[in-house]
Amino acid sequence: MKFYMPTKLRSGPDCVARHAEELASLGSDALIVTGRHSARLNHALNDVTDALKKHGKRYTVFDRIEENPSVETVMTARAAGLEAGADFVIGIGGGSPMDAAKAIAVMLKNPEQDWQYLYQSVSAESCPVAAVPTTCGTGSEVTGVAVLTRHDLQTKVSMTHKVFPVLALSDGKYLQYAPQSVIRSTAVDALAHLTESYINTNADELSRMTASNGLSIWAACRQALLHPETLTAEAAQALMDTATLAGISIAQTGTSIPHALSYILTYRGGIPHGAAAGVFLANYIRYADHDMQKAVLSSAGFRDADELQLFLQNLAPVQSDPALLNAAAESVLRNPAKLRLCPYPVDAALMQEIIRI
Ligand SMILES: [Fe+2]
Repeated sequence: MKFYMPTKLRSGPDCVARHAEELASLGSDALIVTGRHSARLNHALNDVTDALKKHGKRYTVFDRIEENPSVETVMTARAAGLEAGADFVIGIGGGSPMDAAKAIAVMLKNPEQDWQYLYQSVSAESCPVAAVPTTCGTGSEVTGVAVLTRHDLQTKVSMTHKVFPVLALSDGKYLQYAPQSVIRSTAVDALAHLTESYINTNADELSRMTASNGLSIWAACRQALLHPETLTAEAAQALMDTATLAGISIAQTGTSIPHALSYILTYRGGIPHGAAAGVFLANYIRYADHDMQKAVLSSAGFRDADELQLFLQNLAPVQSDPALLNAAAESVLRNPAKLRLCPYPVDAALMQEIIRI
């Protein structure tokens, strides 16, 4: 067995304020990276800046991280950080700001390098990163992965380097401000992480322990997902914790075919990340061996793959044209590293079954 999760995780109400000193101890000048609106709306940005001010730390806010951040945005944020003299990075938001924060931290530490450095197979240092998640899907607060948009390749590609946040502060109250569509799509992303980690050639007893626990908590949140307008503080924290367990799981195993298929649907079709991965989940499970299917579906509270498919079609519907689906299938079939993570052989014929949505 193997298990690696170097992030110090703090979860629960007011955890940013309660752990302000730990956050402030990461450096003297923070570059806070986030999107334009949500971190202000849900008060996470205010909580973070209050924590830094309380401990006499300087900060600069870069609030131009777009959804599915590009390497160009990473470089613009790096320039802002260098100008301000930033020595640590705090990502606030969903996966986009947290992933961007990791890439920015690499580039900040290596100011002489250009963006191609993110994809070079070298050992790279980075500035310390803290993550404050505000959605319930990515798990980026506990993984080393940063997925960035590569306009030159017309898809999303993970940077080569692994940068685990030093500190993750996860407070469910931020999720209560998120739009219902975001709560649903990101919760489906978490379900995809849990499933793809469980049904994975890299899975072992420890990764399956975190994935199984995450699936059980996810199952308990199903009613809240169907009616997010009634989301309680407890359910919001449970959804955030599920996403974190899912992140810990994929940090051990990686994701598998549904995620690999999703990237082109998101880049070319504009389909939200979670929904784009979730649409292939039921079919991915359907071709796994019986015990794995049973373990995942029963933990997540589903009778069979058909019931899961119906639930996801209702929760995060996806419409995609056949040409896009075929392009996604072809790109994954050309990716032996990704195919190896699936525990059953996938040829062109079976891939056609998996993309039958
Ligand atoms: Fe994901």
